Amino acid sequence: MEPSSSLVTVSVTKITTLTILLLFLISCSTLTSTEAYDALDPNGNITIKWDVIQWTPDGYVAVVTMYNFQQYRHIQAPGWTLGWTWAKKEVIWSMMGAQATDQGDCSKFKGNIPHCCRKDPSVVDLLPGTPYNQQIANCCKGGVINSWAQDPANAVSSFQISVGAAGTTNKTVRVPKNITLRAPGPGYTCGPAKIVRPTKFISADKRRITQALMTWNITCTYSQFLAQKTPTCCVSLSSFYNDTIVSCPTCACGCQNSTARAGSGTCVNPDTPHLASVISPPGKSDNTPLVQCTSHMCPIRVHWHVKLNYKEYWRVKVTITNFNYRMNYSLWNMVVQHPNFDNLTKIFSFQYKSLTPYEGLNDTAMLWGVKFYNDFLSQAGPLGNVQSELLFRKDTSTFTFEKGWAFPRRIYFNGDNCVMPPPDAYPWLPNDSSRPVISLLLPVMTLFLSMAFLFAHV
Ligand SMILES: *[C@@H]1O[C@H](CO)[C@@H](O)[C@H](O)[C@H]1NC(C)=O
Ligand SMILES: *[C@@H]1O[C@H](CO)[C@@H](O)[C@H](O)[C@H]1NC(C)=O
Ligand SMILES: *[C@@H]1O[C@H](CO)[C@@H](O)[C@H](O)[C@H]1NC(C)=O
Ligand SMILES: *[C@@H]1O[C@H](CO)[C@@H](O)[C@H](O)[C@H]1NC(C)=O
Ligand SMILES: *[C@@H]1O[C@H](CO)[C@@H](O)[C@H](O)[C@H]1NC(C)=O
Ligand SMILES: *[C@@H]1O[C@H](CO)[C@@H](O)[C@H](O)[C@H]1NC(C)=O
Ligand SMILES: *[C@@H]1O[C@H](CO)[C@@H](O)[C@H](O)[C@H]1NC(C)=O
Ligand SMILES: *[C@@H]1O[C@H](CO)[C@@H](O)[C@H](O)[C@H]1NC(C)=O
Ligand SMILES: *[C@@H]1O[C@H](CO)[C@@H](O)[C@H](O)[C@H]1NC(C)=O
Repeated sequence: MEPSSSLVTVSVTKITTLTILLLFLISCSTLTSTEAYDALDPNGNITIKWDVIQWTPDGYVAVVTMYNFQQYRHIQAPGWTLGWTWAKKEVIWSMMGAQATDQGDCSKFKGNIPHCCRKDPSVVDLLPGTPYNQQIANCCKGGVINSWAQDPANAVSSFQISVGAAGTTNKTVRVPKNITLRAPGPGYTCGPAKIVRPTKFISADKRRITQALMTWNITCTYSQFLAQKTPTCCVSLSSFYNDTIVSCPTCACGCQNSTARAGSGTCVNPDTPHLASVISPPGKSDNTPLVQCTSHMCPIRVHWHVKLNYKEYWRVKVTITNFNYRMNYSLWNMVVQHPNFDNLTKIFSFQYKSLTPYEGLNDTAMLWGVKFYNDFLSQAGPLGNVQSELLFRKDTSTFTFEKGWAFPRRIYFNGDNCVMPPPDAYPWLPNDSSRPVISLLLPVMTLFLSMAFLFAHV
């Protein structure tokens, strides 16, 4: 190659990299300003449907069903809590498959005492093992709802509610207001209940159709920003062609010894004497996260190691490590965006499903554990990790080890975005000439990041 032509190549690379970075940063700032929008799951929502199945002398009986239509965000133990405010003076006479957490003041009732008299009831699922006469279909899983891609059969949760002091026709019933869904913490925002066409139920033998007397729907969407202000997960990288291990960015999820917020900045060294009593102080059940001391302070780290290079394939090892002493992650899942997911040849010891958030886009995959083998990510400690290897087939027109191509573009753990190392820190091939180009872009990136920050906080 002549010197002049290589110069041309470099400046073309420069322009393309700049354009890509600008596009990326612009999309970042759009993402932060439209909080409840998830680019990898644009239609993700939890739909709550109330089907009135019977009128009673003073109200109605309804079956309430929650559908988790999110591809990869599930509700894990200790499960969901559904709340609302009654429009009139309704009471809950009884429930099946769930219960109100607080009965409230039922003192004006003589004889039959309602299950709950609160104006703003909070309802939780019953636990597994509930007697059959208190169950209905899809209930009693301790409020755990799987995600749609991972297990659609278990992505639904239902209960039955008998409401009194309510309307008794579809003209007089008032829909509940101010619906809240906690899963179990904040993060979901629910819209108003909308009366929709009554649901039709088809009998098991498909020979008869019945329909609800009245139906309303509520849609709830998730926002990571509402759920917690700080990230919960970070990504580290390494490769066979470079000895450097690029660790998670320092302070990705918090800083050690920071006093900005109560509780944050506290961590435990694994060699602390009497570790167990520090983690769960006797006589006190504490659910605040307690992480192992690291420079990133994240409860979860995902490590992506480019392991081997074959003639037609290349191989990656992925390790997920739990640094939280107070959390076991059951039914964990991970979403990874990488261009080579259009041709994943084999995945070892994880389950895999390709996600196509948009027509023709197939660079995104969801990974989760094998049931009874590694679907349970144990609390921090020697067992607190799961790992897998991925074998990709090379597409010679796109495959390269240069410019960090072999590393993921984006990773989510349990639906929350993980903090990636800055692009200029990625391990690079010895003598990779594209290096200085990216370093030159750093000041520009910093400028844009601060603009994106301003954007999000106006
Ligand atoms: C909720 O998700 C379902 C299934 O993906 C979709 O059909 C529906 O349109 C979504 N609702 C809203 C309001 O986005
Ligand atoms: C109420 O029921 C009547 C007759 O059954 C029906 O015509 C009407 O559309 C229903 N209204 C609503 C809001 O469902
Ligand atoms: C809605 O519910 C939340 C939490 O239960 C409560 O703080 C808020 O005041 C309620 N808003 C209305 C209008 O009832
Ligand atoms: C209400 O929810 C049900 C169940 O997901 C869905 O089939 C129906 O399309 C929804 N209706 C509207 C208007 O969103
Ligand atoms: C945090 O504080 C402890 C005790 O105050 C100190 O020993 C430790 O070096 C500090 N760590 C960092 C990262 O500043
Ligand atoms: C995690 O699971 C293990 C084994 O089931 C259990 O001993 C431990 O108490 C659990 N830890 C937490 C924080 O729930
Ligand atoms: C994926 O790899 C298979 C062989 O493993 C090949 O036949 C196919 O064309 C590849 N598909 C794409 C989209 O690259
Ligand atoms: C992925 O998308 C590309 C381009 O849209 C298409 O050619 C390819 O067949 C898709 N691969 C798979 C595995 O669906
Ligand atoms: C490996 O990558 C790092 C950047 O992460 C770089 O500083 C180092 O020079 C690279 N090593 C070699 C041998 O190129």
